[in-house]
Amino acid sequence: MLAKVVSCSVIGLEGTAVEVEVDIYSNALPSIVLVGLPDAAVKESTERVRAALVNSGLTYPRGRVTVNLAPADLRKVGPVYDLPIAVGLLAASDQVPLDRLENALFIGELSLDGSLRHIDGVLPMAHMAQQSGIQTVYLPEVDAPEAALIAGIDVIPVPSMSALVSHLRDFDPIPPFEHDQILDDVHEAVYTVDFADIKGQEHVKRALEVAAAGAHNALLTGPPGAGKTLMARSLPSILPKLVLSEALDITRIYSVTGMLPGDTPLINHRPFRAPHHTISHAGLVGGGRLPRPGEISLAHRGVLFLDELPEFGPRNLETLRQPLEDKVVTISRAQGSMSFPANFMLVGAMNPCPCGWFGDSQHECSCSMATVTRYQKRLSGPLLDRIDIHVEVPRVDFEKLSDRHRGETSRTIRERIEAARDIQRRRFAALTDGRVVTTNADMGPGEIREFCPVDEAGHSLLRAAMRQLHMSARAYHRTLKLARTIADLAGVDRIETAHLAEAIQYRPRWQA
Ligand SMILES: Nc1ncnc2c1ncn2[C@@H]1O[C@H](COP(=O)(O)OP(=O)(O)OP(=O)(O)O)[C@@H](O)[C@H]1O
Ligand SMILES: [Mg+2]
Repeated sequence: MLAKVVSCSVIGLEGTAVEVEVDIYSNALPSIVLVGLPDAAVKESTERVRAALVNSGLTYPRGRVTVNLAPADLRKVGPVYDLPIAVGLLAASDQVPLDRLENALFIGELSLDGSLRHIDGVLPMAHMAQQSGIQTVYLPEVDAPEAALIAGIDVIPVPSMSALVSHLRDFDPIPPFEHDQILDDVHEAVYTVDFADIKGQEHVKRALEVAAAGAHNALLTGPPGAGKTLMARSLPSILPKLVLSEALDITRIYSVTGMLPGDTPLINHRPFRAPHHTISHAGLVGGGRLPRPGEISLAHRGVLFLDELPEFGPRNLETLRQPLEDKVVTISRAQGSMSFPANFMLVGAMNPCPCGWFGDSQHECSCSMATVTRYQKRLSGPLLDRIDIHVEVPRVDFEKLSDRHRGETSRTIRERIEAARDIQRRRFAALTDGRVVTTNADMGPGEIREFCPVDEAGHSLLRAAMRQLHMSARAYHRTLKLARTIADLAGVDRIETAHLAEAIQYRPRWQA
């Protein structure tokens, strides 16, 4: 007898339906073959399924079993097919009614005792079900909250094979998971350092506030111990809350990479990723035989912090150029190319020279001028051009450091940033061309023309700056976007000369 079960495979960040066909020919010696481009983990599935069925008190069918995973040209990976294969075997041997398999999706790994285990990529799979009109999704109990983020499908949390069989035979139905149990709110991040505990450095705090308000890239340069790492690491405390659509986009990436924390089905705060400079190329931008998202995608809608920026090496740094501009990363493979979202805010920190003290007021720099230049040249012009905010972080003096007075708290700063983001969201909500623009940094040339008009005085300021700082066309546009954010923080509709002046002074001085 033949049974067909719908299951799912995840390619990149998208789910694709996989049909699991199970055929049993009982007048033959017992055997099982698995066809349809399965990988090693899928082949092992047959052993897990056999043990799980027997240990659940069910009958493993006699005869020759053929399992076909279709379409055949799609590579099948991982243990998600355990459950559909098991259900197919039961249906093909009359242990559960065939018609219960219609309009349903089955995904899950089996353990030898017949219970179900967590699988990666549940969110895109549930999304696939919704998109193709599948009504019911059967999956491991632990993964139900994640699938329930998708509206309009019945999510059946399956604790074990025996419970599933009772359900499918209508003996003891499993109630669907309640959707509204989890979509309560998008929370704020937990953080360790508050801006109030950072002494002095008012202009650096201001620069980070502007950066966070419009999702602009920033680079902190200064001597050792000035607080660059400390301040960058306290950024999560002022990042604006996520909106639900952003949270779902991020969750999808974490779901596929198997990085969703067990207790939260939905990523509810902006990611802050701080990879070490020894990270591999594939680890940073994504890659692998079956491409997986890298750090830049894990930082989607959040912050990618690269401490000691020049140490990342030219190859890694240069590959950031395309995603910094396009906000997606495209990975090419022989089978075709794949894109992952990578709309992140780049924050870098570095010393101005190898010894660290170049330009310091008290400590003498031991590097030769040529060494300093070579060090700074490790960051190419095109990369620096994409960084809107360049800030120098000088040493803090004793008086400031020992001052017991607390500065502004992160909460106060974040409230201003939230207000500025609200203005941006309202501004771009009316866009009709289908582009997703939520921050000023996302603006393209069209939006810049529409939303960043400057008056005559502003024009002459920009003209002078372009000449003196040798600004590129990109730098010109980026300066306008930055000025837009500064005006938004001030709650002002028109970009004024003061906003432009602040934006211009964040441009790098030492650009060729
Ligand atoms: N402005 C500040 N207010 C309070 N503490 C500070 C400040 N700056 C530095 N510190 C203290 O100094 C420590 C070292 O700072 P941090 O690691 O951020 O320096 P850095 O600029 O990253 O140096 P390096 O160039 O060596 O990486 C912090 O952990 C903190 O204890
Ligand atoms: Mg540091």
